[in-house]
Amino acid sequence: MISSTALVVALSLGGTIADISTNYSGYVNIFQGTRNGGNRFPGVVAAPFAFVKLGPDVESGKTDAYSGYLPAGNIWGFSMMHESGTGGAPKYGVVSQMPVFGPVSDPIANFSQPRKSPDEGSVGYYKSSLANGVQVELGATERAGLYSYNFPNGNTSSIVVDVSHVLPSFRGLGWEQHYSGGSFGIYDDGHYTGSGTYNNGWNLSPDWSIYFCGRFSQRPSYAYTFLSNGNATVKNNGTSSVSGSGRLGGVFSFASTSLRSRVGVSFLSTEKACTNLDAEINEGIELQTLVDNAKANWNTEIFDKFQISTSDEADLQLLYSSLYGMFLIPSNRTGENPGWDSAEPYYDDVFTLWDTHRCHTSLFQIVHPTAYEEFIRSLINIWKNDGFMPDARSSNFNGRVQGGSNADNVLADAFVKGVRGAIDWDAGFAAMQTDAEVVPPNNFDPKAPDSSTKEGRGALPDWLRYSYITPRFTRAVSRAVEYSANDFGLHQVASGLGKTDDAATYLNRSRNWRNHWNPNATSEGHFGFMVPRNANGSFVPQDPKDCGGCYWGDAYYEDNAWIYSMNAIHDVAELKRRIGGDERFVDRLDKLFDLKIFNAGNEPGFTSPFLYNFVKGKQYKSVERSRYIGGLYNASEAGLPGNSDAGAMESNLLWQMIGLWPMTGQTTFLILAPWFESMTLDLGDGKTLSITSTGGNRDTAFYVQSLKVNGSPWNKAWVTWDDIFANGGTLDYVLGAQAVDWATGAVPPSPASESEILSS
Ligand SMILES: *[C@@H]1O[C@H](CO)[C@@H](O)[C@H](O)[C@H]1NC(C)=O
Ligand SMILES: *[C@@H]1O[C@H](CO)[C@@H](O)[C@H](O)[C@H]1NC(C)=O
Ligand SMILES: *[C@@H]1O[C@H](CO)[C@@H](O)[C@H](O)[C@H]1NC(C)=O
Ligand SMILES: *[C@@H]1O[C@H](CO)[C@@H](O)[C@H](O)[C@H]1NC(C)=O
Ligand SMILES: *[C@@H]1O[C@H](CO)[C@@H](O)[C@H](O)[C@H]1NC(C)=O
Ligand SMILES: *[C@@H]1O[C@H](CO)[C@@H](O)[C@H](O)[C@H]1NC(C)=O
Ligand SMILES: *[C@@H]1O[C@H](CO)[C@@H](O)[C@H](O)[C@H]1NC(C)=O
Ligand SMILES: *[C@@H]1O[C@H](CO)[C@@H](O)[C@H](O)[C@H]1NC(C)=O
Ligand SMILES: *[C@@H]1O[C@H](CO)[C@@H](O)[C@H](O)[C@H]1NC(C)=O
Ligand SMILES: *[C@@H]1O[C@H](CO)[C@@H](O)[C@H](O)[C@H]1NC(C)=O
Repeated sequence: MISSTALVVALSLGGTIADISTNYSGYVNIFQGTRNGGNRFPGVVAAPFAFVKLGPDVESGKTDAYSGYLPAGNIWGFSMMHESGTGGAPKYGVVSQMPVFGPVSDPIANFSQPRKSPDEGSVGYYKSSLANGVQVELGATERAGLYSYNFPNGNTSSIVVDVSHVLPSFRGLGWEQHYSGGSFGIYDDGHYTGSGTYNNGWNLSPDWSIYFCGRFSQRPSYAYTFLSNGNATVKNNGTSSVSGSGRLGGVFSFASTSLRSRVGVSFLSTEKACTNLDAEINEGIELQTLVDNAKANWNTEIFDKFQISTSDEADLQLLYSSLYGMFLIPSNRTGENPGWDSAEPYYDDVFTLWDTHRCHTSLFQIVHPTAYEEFIRSLINIWKNDGFMPDARSSNFNGRVQGGSNADNVLADAFVKGVRGAIDWDAGFAAMQTDAEVVPPNNFDPKAPDSSTKEGRGALPDWLRYSYITPRFTRAVSRAVEYSANDFGLHQVASGLGKTDDAATYLNRSRNWRNHWNPNATSEGHFGFMVPRNANGSFVPQDPKDCGGCYWGDAYYEDNAWIYSMNAIHDVAELKRRIGGDERFVDRLDKLFDLKIFNAGNEPGFTSPFLYNFVKGKQYKSVERSRYIGGLYNASEAGLPGNSDAGAMESNLLWQMIGLWPMTGQTTFLILAPWFESMTLDLGDGKTLSITSTGGNRDTAFYVQSLKVNGSPWNKAWVTWDDIFANGGTLDYVLGAQAVDWATGAVPPSPASESEILSS
């Protein structure tokens, strides 16, 4: 439910921020990105990173419901755990309950219901109206959920808790989740506890268990537990318990038409699930109180950090809906880690650093530095206890790795931007060195049996032996370009820690992408692309526009040589030289767009549109690309140009609005052009970044005419972290309708190229 009431937005006036009491949560469309493959979760998430994500599970033919939700189809349960914006195969959809109008004699019957009207909701609130007249309203806290039911008159009101409920997948890729068993018990006082065990999903996780504890607002008129062995369903009235591998759970029937159900969850035990419930949602709490708390959490932790000078409802909705979509996962499960005892923070549902390291994590740091530091500590602590940092992780299990070990890039980005606090950076570097030096055990993934898809760098044996990756490893070329960036990350951290030898080793290794460069590979008038390379040094013939299936078993993952060949972003000067100089470089960037090779919905190409800044006089073209990309988004259900990918897609748009692009792993930000006359970012500790523009506008007069950084004229198409973020700062633009050559200063750094020039 989007508020149509225009809210007053405080403006930044004369450099001082007016008192802000605006309730930005009202601008969020929780349904943004829920259609057309965005896969965003629209249900209740009571705070950024909350454990519980409570929402409907929808079935519609053989369509995978990645977040549980689909806009059309029948609702078959409301469950406590979901992911947001993922692809591959659905995960979670567990700890579910389903309201049934009437008595329930067969608890494993199909109770799915069409909707009477479209679902509604706002931050912290969700409502479904089912065709049978039952209304369900949802609210939540970090570890508990509240279901408020209204049944029609005239029959029994029943709730079925089916522990076997888990989101299915119909794609046939072998990534479907399985229910493998559970337990369920009803107590004298009418409350119940239990657990469910599940496995597989996209990350091929082994069995994992979730515990739950449920209480109703009144005693059921009758209740029973059930256990089905496939042929017969055994029912036990009243206080009873069941366990096993069959479908099992409980049925609760009530005389009343209005009913509240509270559920707590835990990864540790049913006792902890009850503790979590009782600590967070007491018997008398109003749904509205939970909803108000959730809005306040999101306002203070996230939305208040961005203030813009517009009363344009569409812009406000787009900004705050995008920010919301960025912070639904990972999940803060500190204190809920079944794997090991540690006081360190614990974050799960990392989907995936392959997607998020390019521009999500760098904005995460800016918007929520406290959580970001915890997140980095959690990655390191996972290494300490589990052997490797994750590239992706869910249900407490690492996997899958699509390319490199991109936690290395994330740690490097945090390190060079001064993220310290309680992070043990010696341990952080050791975790990165594990990625760079230790071959992870093969998990024999049917989709890529050559090496681990669970964690680390499976193709490391070739990387260490040949300084490139031969076709005996799947995804050889795309992994090689990512391993180069990963090794650059090690160089960055080693340099900062004073590990001079390591710094030199990894800087050299970061140039290994060059070993895949075949100067004779030709496409569309361009020479030189990254291609597969045999052990004897010969290049494999390769059409740079073709990547076969672009999937797990191919030489390139999800994109082709045109895109991957631009991704040595720490070595751009050398890349330009190989491509044939500035003019050829610009032409190649142009062709990414002219030939429709670039896909704004796919992460490997995210940085390419802005590499024009590496050529003097061409910054304006980055701005043109930025406006094109920004124009693909809106706050509606179909408003993401691709899969949300755990908020990576939304973070990209936010950088376009800010008018900067982060070069991940470096302190450099490429300058684009801001969307608004004024935007103020709260950087914490009383620091702000204030961005203003005059003379132009977002849509037609968006070319940079001139720029002042911290009040002084600026002639470079880039700034550094220290310039504007470390202590705050100002960016004051003049924009106009004509491109002018304002960025006459030095081009952005190419650290891997420059140090070579310096040392030779
Ligand atoms: C914020 O806005 C939402 C929706 O517009 C509303 O439900 C909520 O009560 C508001 N909160 C405050 C504190 O004004
Ligand atoms: C209550 O529901 C049951 C099961 O659907 C049905 O058989 C029965 O007729 C209903 N009773 C009334 C009074 O509607
Ligand atoms: C449940 O019933 C609905 C409505 O008839 C149907 O569309 C759906 O496929 C059924 N689901 C299952 C799992 O059989
Ligand atoms: C179900 O019934 C069939 C036929 O009687 C029998 O062969 C099978 O073992 C039964 N399955 C279970 C799980 O009891
Ligand atoms: C269980 O309860 C139902 C509903 O009250 C009743 O019809 C049934 O006979 C009971 N079964 C047993 C085994 O007590
Ligand atoms: C993460 O969860 C822990 C445990 O509840 C809490 O102490 C910490 O503040 C949370 N982090 C954030 C950023 O909310
Ligand atoms: C740098 O890496 C190359 C392989 O790409 C290797 O041949 C060379 O020996 C390395 N240089 C140093 C100084 O380690
Ligand atoms: C590229 O082609 C030229 C001309 O055929 C040849 O001399 C050269 O060895 C080739 N380079 C590579 C790396 O194959
Ligand atoms: C190099 O290896 C490839 C793949 O095994 C083979 O096809 C090719 O003939 C080899 N080239 C030379 C010069 O040995
Ligand atoms: C949002 O973008 C989608 C995809 O481009 C488009 O179909 C839809 O009409 C847009 N909606 C609005 C409100 O602009």
